[in-house]
Amino acid sequence: MEPDFGTYHHSTPKKSKEMRQKIEKIFCPLLLSLYSDDSELEILDAGCGLGFLTGIAAKCFPKSRVYAVDVFQHDSLSEATIEKARSNIKLLGIESRVGIVQHDLREPLGMPERFDLAVSNLVFHNLGKKRFLAYDNVLSALKPGGYFVIGDLFPFIKKDMEYFDGISSAVQEKWREGSSKWSYRIISARRN
Ligand SMILES: C[S@@+](CC[C@H](N)C(=O)[O-])C[C@H]1O[C@@H](n2cnc3c(N)ncnc32)[C@H](O)[C@@H]1O
Repeated sequence: MEPDFGTYHHSTPKKSKEMRQKIEKIFCPLLLSLYSDDSELEILDAGCGLGFLTGIAAKCFPKSRVYAVDVFQHDSLSEATIEKARSNIKLLGIESRVGIVQHDLREPLGMPERFDLAVSNLVFHNLGKKRFLAYDNVLSALKPGGYFVIGDLFPFIKKDMEYFDGISSAVQEKWREGSSKWSYRIISARRN
């Protein structure tokens, strides 16, 4: 049985699947440009949904562990329950390396400097101005020098880049699809 990673808000099952196929092709090489594939990383997936990016991170770094968090109460992803996320992780055969926890990213993770890498896909644009608080919470959970790699729609990209430039280093736009305000982009930043 194949895992079902759900349908994104304002999308269809087919379009969501196509989008994930595209994102996977970009995300994996990008992560592998930051860390070697045999790294033993502690990875945070911020807003894991049904485990799509958790699966990619675990596949790119087979010796690593992923801590996947989500509020599991949001309409940006269809039927996103923690039970379904756990079942997907089992279907992917990575349950021994993945922990899934219900958590609102607007609250501190309570794990200062624990993670080597944080990843996220299509989460923070849902949070409005509270996204900066959520970014702070993720960055605090990273070890100094750890990367935060975010795929998202950044309708106010200038503000997000200013925020990351002010608080972290090596801030880069790694990917952009399209030229509209709502383009999908991947941004990476390194915790100071
Ligand atoms: C569009 S889905 C993306 C899920 C997954 N990252 C993926 O790429 O398939 C957005 C996710 O963000 C989660 N989310 C929204 N607000 C959140 C918050 N404050 N804290 C944690 N997760 C949140 C939602 O529950 C949803 O699962």
